[in-house]
Amino acid sequence: MLKRAVVLAWVLVLVSAGSVSAAVDKRMIVGGTLASVSEAPWAVVLTNSQSSRPTGRWCGAALIAPDKVLTAAHCMTKPLSTYTAIQGRADLNDTSTGRSSGISKIWIHPGYNTSDNRNDFAILTLAEPFRRVAVIALETNPKADRKGAVPTVYGWGDTAGTGPDDTLQKVAVPDLGDDRCLANKEYVANGYAAAANVCAGNGTGDACQGDSGGPLVLNGRLLATVSWGKGCADPSYPGVYAEIASAAATLRQQVR
Ligand code: ARG
Repeated sequence: MLKRAVVLAWVLVLVSAGSVSAAVDKRMIVGGTLASVSEAPWAVVLTNSQSSRPTGRWCGAALIAPDKVLTAAHCMTKPLSTYTAIQGRADLNDTSTGRSSGISKIWIHPGYNTSDNRNDFAILTLAEPFRRVAVIALETNPKADRKGAVPTVYGWGDTAGTGPDDTLQKVAVPDLGDDRCLANKEYVANGYAAAANVCAGNGTGDACQGDSGGPLVLNGRLLATVSWGKGCADPSYPGVYAEIASAAATLRQQVR
């Protein structure tokens, strides 16, 4: 009975893809600072016409080819035609900057499922490719995810007052190592796996609602994408990311 309630609470956290997240503790790309479009040209924000937010903000994504963005599978709950990808717009309210494209195709990783949340990846094909924009390379080395590394996460998601909303923020999040998340029973029950996930962040810096699908970057490569977490910047509950290396071969097949 208690177990069912816990599972239900988790489902609420997971389905709150940037839009409705009243069930969870709202803080921001917590503890971050403003990021510029020039330092993160491959950072893409997905908006959705059914979003409850005035800007339409929905999820984060990363440009991995001129016509492909990588995001989270759990962000793909709406019809194809309701999504727009935007690049080069640090402040979502400033529609005079950046460019946007509709989505012509959604591919969801065949290994994604909502019971263990692994392979939380979707690749979207842009109707109008973002040409002449730097793309980000996929990390292929599984050893890149190691305790002590300090990757940076980017996103337009909730800031809980530590910065402006709907504005591109970044924060360095310490990689805590898989053991740290594997020691958390709730996280294991929710599907955390060493090969599939990265465990990062602490009480001062974390991703939050609306950042899902967005890039976690280390040494100029895409180490992982924002996937889930309990609350935001809670020292007892790190951020959980979908690790690229273990899925890189499958992801690359979608990009040519
Ligand atoms: N599920 C959230 C989203 O859809 C991302 C949660 C990340 N949470 C965290 N504490 N790192 O935007």
